[in-house]
Amino acid sequence: MEFPVYRPRRLRANENLRRLIRETSLSVDNLVMPFFVREGKGIRKAVASMPGIFQLSIDNLVKEARLAKKLGIPAILLFGIPAKKDEQAGQAYSDNGIVQRACREIKEKVKGLSVITDVCLCEFSSSGHCGVLKRRGGGGMEVDNDATLELLALSALSHAEAGADMVAPSAMMDGQVKAIRSALDQNDLQSVPIMAYSAKYASGFYAPFRDAAESAPKSGDRKSYQMDPANADEAMREIRLDVREGTDIIMVKPALAYLDIIKRAKSEFGLPLAAYNVSGEYSMVKAAAKAGWIDEKRVVLEILTGIKRAGADILITYHAMEIAKHL
Ligand code: PBG
Repeated sequence: MEFPVYRPRRLRANENLRRLIRETSLSVDNLVMPFFVREGKGIRKAVASMPGIFQLSIDNLVKEARLAKKLGIPAILLFGIPAKKDEQAGQAYSDNGIVQRACREIKEKVKGLSVITDVCLCEFSSSGHCGVLKRRGGGGMEVDNDATLELLALSALSHAEAGADMVAPSAMMDGQVKAIRSALDQNDLQSVPIMAYSAKYASGFYAPFRDAAESAPKSGDRKSYQMDPANADEAMREIRLDVREGTDIIMVKPALAYLDIIKRAKSEFGLPLAAYNVSGEYSMVKAAAKAGWIDEKRVVLEILTGIKRAGADILITYHAMEIAKHL
């Protein structure tokens, strides 16, 4: 007599047995909710391309942060929209910048919620690029990598001094982790960790974010500093550099078209890994749900489970506040 083959349907048919053998479980512990903060009072301005997401003034951000805390979300990620932009992105590292003030308020008023800050110049620079520009030898402008490092370090430092629990450099400048690590260490902020956007691709999925953060480049694109979607080995090289420079957490961004990168990064480095379920990924789900084509809750749970199954520990997602209720 032949032995029967494994018949998984016996286990799958029963919800309790399914629970017993489930390999991946989502938890609110994994979630980070991004927020966009702007100047003003009482402002809650809908972002047209991201239904359910708002640009908030600090007072309203504090309310949302309280809610996040109540839902059990461990941390939020802050992006700032300054009142004025300039070539040197001065508001990115001013003590009185929007992000710095928002950090102080939240740390003071919402105890027990961690604040992570995005460290980049694109929201603050008049060019909308992630670094400052310089004239290129052959004519035209290009991002000045090394001049930008200093400004990123100043930004991270000002965030940490304002109480940020962790800083997240996203400019994709070479050497940014090292520059930030040394600035923090030299200023008695050794205990503030870095979550580096190590493998950040030049992606069409960021389009709604640039609306939300008002950070689209005025001319050109980000292809000289963000990665080519076709490359995987290069992502491992980028991550390796950030690890050597002292990052505590590595990040892959976007998430869905890059699950293979998440999986490789987790197995090659074994470090805590964050995946950024970016704006375009969010908005596609929202649009399809609104049209009645998909079941939003089911699809969001499936997407987040997939990203976690691929190897991510931290899920940065605009769905966080809504989905936390279902976990
Ligand atoms: C840059 C930054 C971007 C995002 C996070 N940090 C945009 C970009 O590189 O253009 C995108 C996040 C998203 O799409 O949700 N500071």
